[in-house]
Amino acid sequence: MTASANSLTSAHAVTLNKFKEIVEKESEGAIQVKLFLGGSMGDETANVKQLRNGELHIATLFNGNLTPFAPSVNALVLPYLFSNLNEAYAVLSDESFTNMLADQVAKESKTRPLGWMIGGYRSITNNKKPIMKMEDLQGLKLRVSPSAIQLAAFRAFGIEPHPMAWSETYNALQQGVIDGQENMYATNRDHKFWEIQKYMTEIHYMLWTGAILASDRWFSKLDADTKALVLRAAKEAQKADWQFAAAYEEECKKESIANGMKVDYLTDEDKWKEKARAIWPEFIKTPEMKALTDKALAIIGSLPK
Ligand code: MLT
Repeated sequence: MTASANSLTSAHAVTLNKFKEIVEKESEGAIQVKLFLGGSMGDETANVKQLRNGELHIATLFNGNLTPFAPSVNALVLPYLFSNLNEAYAVLSDESFTNMLADQVAKESKTRPLGWMIGGYRSITNNKKPIMKMEDLQGLKLRVSPSAIQLAAFRAFGIEPHPMAWSETYNALQQGVIDGQENMYATNRDHKFWEIQKYMTEIHYMLWTGAILASDRWFSKLDADTKALVLRAAKEAQKADWQFAAAYEEECKKESIANGMKVDYLTDEDKWKEKARAIWPEFIKTPEMKALTDKALAIIGSLPK
């Protein structure tokens, strides 16, 4: 059983459909993969709990929603860690990094990442005013995922954000409980956010990355051949996501603009970077987090400039 809380047109659907295709084809139909898309198994937090107790076998989700269960995933969502997509591709293609992270995540959360998804940068949307500098955030009620790192980042930017499950966000925006949220263009497009949000600002603080996450209890009991097949299918699913997401993000930006959203850019990006980077030490306290962060930074540092 596999699930995603995201829509049938999302990169999550592309990823899980590829996983299903490979497993069913290579097992010659002996293993059937059932997909529960569009949140029919609950939100991403519920999906992690279902993986932990073995009710669900695989789910795809935003890494921010995994961090309450597996703090080591913070190594991928440190604000302003990835300054371009190539850096994320390099870190998440490096097996010494991904194996170290997967083992740590399994220890912390009883779930095991088998692959990684990479989307676009999370941009702020709101329906009150254009945001071009940090002070413009004042007075905005902004939703973030319930991840400590996003809460800390927005506190560093000077406001108290509202943690909320993604599945509740559209209604909360529509009813005016909150004024805005932050997500990549693709997510905004998948939920037609232009119906309820006017302004978007590219703040580039966090690249959307997600996990193709397995129940460790289920995965560890598979026989060697099935385990190898599941791993191979997850790698193919990862590849399908990376190919799809890069082009989709640009398309979704254009569609958001065509549907009336106004895109703004920061005039004080250095200030956002400085404030956000000041929260890093709060999240790099354990030797494991230090090792993961050092490794990610070394990979990024080794890339041609
Ligand atoms: C979130 O904000 O909770 C996520 O980015 C939603 C998603 O998985 O696209």
